Amino acid sequence: MTVHIIQDFVPYNESVIWDLTEKYYKENGLDVFSKMEAKDIVPYESTSNYQSAKAYLEMLIASSKDLPESSFPLKLLDCGAGNGYFAYNLLHAAKEMNFLDKIYVIITDFAKENLLGVKKKKILAGFEEFKHYELVELDVSNLETAKSLDDKPYKFENIYAVSMNYLLDLLPLTVLNRKNSMFKEKFDQLQIKTFIESKEDLKDMDFMTYCKALDYEFKWAPYKIEEEPESEKKYYDFFLNYHEKNKTIVGRHLYFPYFSFISIEALMKVVTDDGFLYIADIPPRKYEIFKSFGASISHEIEVEILAAFAADLLGYDSVSLVDDILSRIIICKSNKLKIELKKSFNKVFIEENMVNRLADIRLALGSFHHKEASDIFLTLLDEFEKLAGPSSEVALRRGYYHRINGDFKKAKEYYEKAKKLDFINDYDIDAILWKLEHEQKDPELTVF
Ligand SMILES: C[S@@+](CC[C@H](N)C(=O)[O-])C[C@H]1O[C@@H](n2cnc3c(N)ncnc32)[C@H](O)[C@@H]1O
Repeated sequence: MTVHIIQDFVPYNESVIWDLTEKYYKENGLDVFSKMEAKDIVPYESTSNYQSAKAYLEMLIASSKDLPESSFPLKLLDCGAGNGYFAYNLLHAAKEMNFLDKIYVIITDFAKENLLGVKKKKILAGFEEFKHYELVELDVSNLETAKSLDDKPYKFENIYAVSMNYLLDLLPLTVLNRKNSMFKEKFDQLQIKTFIESKEDLKDMDFMTYCKALDYEFKWAPYKIEEEPESEKKYYDFFLNYHEKNKTIVGRHLYFPYFSFISIEALMKVVTDDGFLYIADIPPRKYEIFKSFGASISHEIEVEILAAFAADLLGYDSVSLVDDILSRIIICKSNKLKIELKKSFNKVFIEENMVNRLADIRLALGSFHHKEASDIFLTLLDEFEKLAGPSSEVALRRGYYHRINGDFKKAKEYYEKAKKLDFINDYDIDAILWKLEHEQKDPELTVF
């Protein structure tokens, strides 16, 4: 077996895996979110669901209640919007809650393909471009390069709120390891080597196969901040102080998320004095160096360091919560706003947390396979329908209910209905319909 070294040891933040992640997102458009197209997909259900969007909207409604009429519609910036499902749910929730005319959503992503996909697949049909929303190409770490879809420079101003769902987790960072227990700091920096073990000709591999076949080796080497980019140096003292103050344990690796700092700092500048920034991302559970979804890498997000960064370097208060599904933080431009937002944040994410309720019911529904339990399945499904908003999942699961109960005609009707809302071919409903037809001819044959 031949070993091809793609890149010899380099500091983690300079690794080729970041370029591969960028290429993966920029070239594959909405397919990265479709279970059928990509098989190993980038998950979006925990953030881009109706209840998450509704919770965000409730915070917007509560925080803006005393604003003058001239502040509306509130300009909302969604960064790294992916398949646009967060905006989709937000607009639908706003319509239901009579708040649609009070918001304007600027849907952005650094992958223009995604934005074009949102348009082409008519995900936002029912809402008007330039009245309720617009689509803008934006790399969140460089606001200056933003462009409208027709490639004109785009300037952000008077943004009331920014949302970033599952975005910070894929911005470059440095991974460090403390060497000494006394805080006269010495760090080792993670270094990564990328290689591929293959007899096959690399040229014949498609991109996904190539990424999946890559292997990595890690080592620690002395960290020399003076050799790092200016953007990293700028935040280094804060990073040191933070860990000194918090007496972070020796021995576990530390993320130095300087690209998140750059992005948060720049975004807070375009947010109005009464506005805020909302982040929802992967909670720290395992302290893995990285996780991979499809051909992308991502990292766990520690809200504590983001909160300290916002307070110590930018002077802004925040509210945060970490549960087993998400790390969430709201960074507020004013203290008055924080008091209001804290109340509604606690209400939507601690007292009620319909996002968790939706997630648990979804999980439970996925484990029903026999008609003998279909009465309970139906009860849960009715509850799911109340929470899931306008999603293909409800009709899909109703189709499944009828299928396991042998009513193929009704099953087909629901699957056809689900197909209309499955904009990104997440569930490959054509294949389900094909299986259904075969089961109908031979009911003994159950193909799941
Ligand atoms: C994991 S997806 C999250 C999608 C969506 N926000 C959600 O939670 O369902 C990350 C998205 O961020 C985009 N992205 C990655 N790096 C970015 C950057 N530097 N600036 C803006 N968007 C970026 C990707 O193209 C992708 O659509």
